[in-house]
Amino acid sequence: MSTAILGMQWGDEGKGKITHLLAKKAEMVVRFNGGPNAGHTVIDRGVKFGTHQIPAGAFYPGVQCILASGMVIDMSVLRAEYETLTGHLGQSPQMFISENAHLILPYHPMLEELEGSGAHIGTTRRGIGPAYRDKAARVGIRVGDLRHPSKLRDRLNQRIDLLRQTWPKASEITALSADRLAGDLLNIAQPFLESIGDAASVIRTALRQDQRVLFEGAQGALLDLDFGTYPYVTSSSTTFAGLSNATGVTATETIDSIGVVKAYTTRVGEGHFPTELSGKIENRLRERGGEFGVTTGRPRRCGWLDLVALKHAATLNRLTGLAITKLDVLSGMEEIKVCRAYRIGERKIVRFPLGEEELAHCEPIYETLACWKEEIQTARTLDALPSAAHNYVDHISQVLEVPLTMVSVGPAPEETIAIGFDRS
Ligand code: GDP
Ligand code: IMO
Ligand code: MG
Repeated sequence: MSTAILGMQWGDEGKGKITHLLAKKAEMVVRFNGGPNAGHTVIDRGVKFGTHQIPAGAFYPGVQCILASGMVIDMSVLRAEYETLTGHLGQSPQMFISENAHLILPYHPMLEELEGSGAHIGTTRRGIGPAYRDKAARVGIRVGDLRHPSKLRDRLNQRIDLLRQTWPKASEITALSADRLAGDLLNIAQPFLESIGDAASVIRTALRQDQRVLFEGAQGALLDLDFGTYPYVTSSSTTFAGLSNATGVTATETIDSIGVVKAYTTRVGEGHFPTELSGKIENRLRERGGEFGVTTGRPRRCGWLDLVALKHAATLNRLTGLAITKLDVLSGMEEIKVCRAYRIGERKIVRFPLGEEELAHCEPIYETLACWKEEIQTARTLDALPSAAHNYVDHISQVLEVPLTMVSVGPAPEETIAIGFDRS
């Protein structure tokens, strides 16, 4: 059976840990959206990595790693990760990159600064928005262009000419040289040039052969370009529906969809966050949960679990299982709350509003749940958890009407309660 691992909140739910854990038994791992805005933490044989471009399957030399067409790729970041992993493994990861994936080029982060979107949205400043915008405007440069150097130079020339006309006073833009950029790109991308092609057909063949394929999502449902908290979202589709388009795989009914849910909520960057906390409780969650961005190091905003937002995310993703992470962070809390509905003035709603105006006025209506004092990192079965912790995860599963697949009680792969599958 193939499986998609998808974030259910505003990112950083622990997708890296869960994908790495399951990749051990996979034959292929496909990253399908986003770019180096993602920061997925993997602890492999005791060594901690933050992966941005490379799929978590890269930690197992036998696993084929695919970067699908829905991604935007910064070749410098990819190359650096590839070299680090080659050193760690003693051999190079098996890579295959979609010719249709778009490149993030040095002018993309520059545009984010020049236009101010970096500050307004609180982006990761990795050039994600401008790269996806170039794709939609049909002026993007694709990975497949690397195989045709003269065409690559022509396309870069055209794009840079246009940028110079738009930003005649921006010295970083006027200093760009298509020839130099093309030379640098071809040099950096050298180890991958023979592994660029029709990734969709490679994935489809693997699925037809009943290989175990993992699809690694980046970001989370609430950052989805269409169904997230627009405009404070990323520029790609982060959901199960987006997976089809981003990979070229249409027969998705054989793919399990596991939603990764952090036991509380975090968000990085700007945008409304109804259950956001402040003061002592927020600080405790941030410190104990190590809630600082993997990509930018920014402190993450922290709040209670929001079951209204999660219900919306679960619906979008046709979930077949839940992986609840960071339950250990809640040990020792003096109270634990979860949001069950919102109040807007006199009105109570149980639906997650997609409009910025409505969301801004949502006051959470909380339910207080029993807390527990015990540390739980060593629990390997649900029954080994204190009853309040067991009830907490059962409650989430019941409200979302999705069965539990995993409960994570620490960052290391072994710190996991596996439910209904063999983790060995
Ligand atoms: P991702 O972007 O969804 O892969 O998540 P990140 O890696 O950005 O953030 C998750 C953080 O939580 C990382 O530092 C992980 O090492 C850590 N983590 C994952 N699962 C657990 C867990 O169950 N307990 C604790 N304490 N930390 C965890
Ligand atoms: P992973 O895969 C958390 C957020 C940014 C910003 C908004 C837009 O590690 O879960 P972008 O750079 O994408 O244009 O920024 O999205 N964001 C993330 N937040 N985890 C991520 O990835 C994120 N990727 C983007 O902070 O609010
Ligand atoms: Mg992350």
